[in-house]
Amino acid sequence: MGKIYDATWGRAFSALYDRCFKASEEAGLREMRRDLVAGAQGSVLELGAGTGLNLDLYPESLTGLTLTEPDPHMIKQLRKRVAEEGRAVEVIEAPAESLPFADDSFDTVALTLVLCTVPDPAAALQEIKRVLKPDGRFLFLEHVRSPDPSLAKWQDRLEKPWRFLGDGCHCNRDTVATISAAGFELGDVERPEFPKVIPIVKPMAKGSASLP
Ligand SMILES: C[S@@+](CC[C@H](N)C(=O)[O-])C[C@H]1O[C@@H](n2cnc3c(N)ncnc32)[C@H](O)[C@@H]1O
Repeated sequence: MGKIYDATWGRAFSALYDRCFKASEEAGLREMRRDLVAGAQGSVLELGAGTGLNLDLYPESLTGLTLTEPDPHMIKQLRKRVAEEGRAVEVIEAPAESLPFADDSFDTVALTLVLCTVPDPAAALQEIKRVLKPDGRFLFLEHVRSPDPSLAKWQDRLEKPWRFLGDGCHCNRDTVATISAAGFELGDVERPEFPKVIPIVKPMAKGSASLP
């Protein structure tokens, strides 16, 4: 089952990804991405970059941009977009839980719609802490567990089928609490809605965090 899943759905998910997100991007998601990555500075690491939907939104003033992506199907799309964009970007195949970078390497670590999917978010956050410079910033845009208990209950009930459809995405994770529990100091955290998606994936968190 694992092999069939990897060979078929994983490939289809990456191939259909941009089309599936198009309505949401046009209805406001792209603006949220733009606003988030406008806060990136210096040497920047983006984790789980997917097909590279944030790529053209980063400020030109960065001193470096590294994108990681562990999925072999996604990374093909990502490399294609990087080549088309013509920007000097390093693309590395790696999971967020095990990053091939030295301690204190980056001024900014960014991710969008990733902590819902990584198998071990706590381990990923420890890696982010390790590779961030002491005065660095962590930027995130994630869909999260609802603060409304009745919607959260539906997120719990539908987590399993959604995980299959969403290529490993967990719709019920309290990601802001996990970021805080990892030892980050939270900055401002906005709670926007994911446009044009079903209710269980609507609640979002957009913000920044730093090392204490
Ligand atoms: C919903 S997609 C988001 C892609 C992209 N960040 C975006 O905003 O469009 C989730 C991404 O997380 C990636 N991912 C899954 N497991 C991961 C892991 N352990 N570490 C880093 N990224 C992971 C997937 O391959 C996929 O590209």
